[in-house]
Amino acid sequence: MNTSSPFQADNLFEIVYKASDSVKTEEDLNLLISDFDADLLCSQMESLSVSQLVKFLRVSHNYYLSKKLPEIEQSLLHIREKYSNTHGLLAGLAVYFNNYKKKLVKHIRMEEEVFFPFIETLVLASEGRLSPEETKELLQATSLADFEDNHDSIEEELREVEQIIKAYASQTEQVLPFSVFLNQVTLFEYELRKHAVIEDMVLVKKVADLEAELRNV
Ligand SMILES: [Fe+2]
Ligand SMILES: [Fe+2]
Repeated sequence: MNTSSPFQADNLFEIVYKASDSVKTEEDLNLLISDFDADLLCSQMESLSVSQLVKFLRVSHNYYLSKKLPEIEQSLLHIREKYSNTHGLLAGLAVYFNNYKKKLVKHIRMEEEVFFPFIETLVLASEGRLSPEETKELLQATSLADFEDNHDSIEEELREVEQIIKAYASQTEQVLPFSVFLNQVTLFEYELRKHAVIEDMVLVKKVADLEAELRNV
């Protein structure tokens, strides 16, 4: 059941993703997705600090790379091994997901290596832990606007990939492992959607305020 009370930083990851664990059937999945409320999620995350949000997003990235993507790839491998001869079209659809995976990994790497370090340094500056010269240099070198210009909607792209895969797959006979794969993709897309809301609507807003404050000193 949804609650509008704010999330605490402890166990934040478990709280945000716990609903995913309860998905056992396609009905559960559809219910979870139709229940999604971006405004509610924003209001729950609002009370967290910038550092807590970045920490949560880093942990989420790790979860995608070390758990979600390998699980989906495992399903694709299984489909390819078992159905290449009989269901060539389904097995061939793996290429779409692999291309998407490369983009997602690049997207995450940019955030981990450029965007988050910039934010973490902004936080240090706002706490007075950088000299005025260091703060000035930081603000001259980069800005939140640079990040926003290079930040594509990776969750939208997954939806497009999913639509393409479904369209092709509808032309051929389905097999159970393929439905499992599609459900995994749909659940992952839901998780990325949550991630994007937290990143774009909560974190970016807070960072914009922080940056504006520092620029106005
Ligand atoms: Fe991210
Ligand atoms: Fe992102």
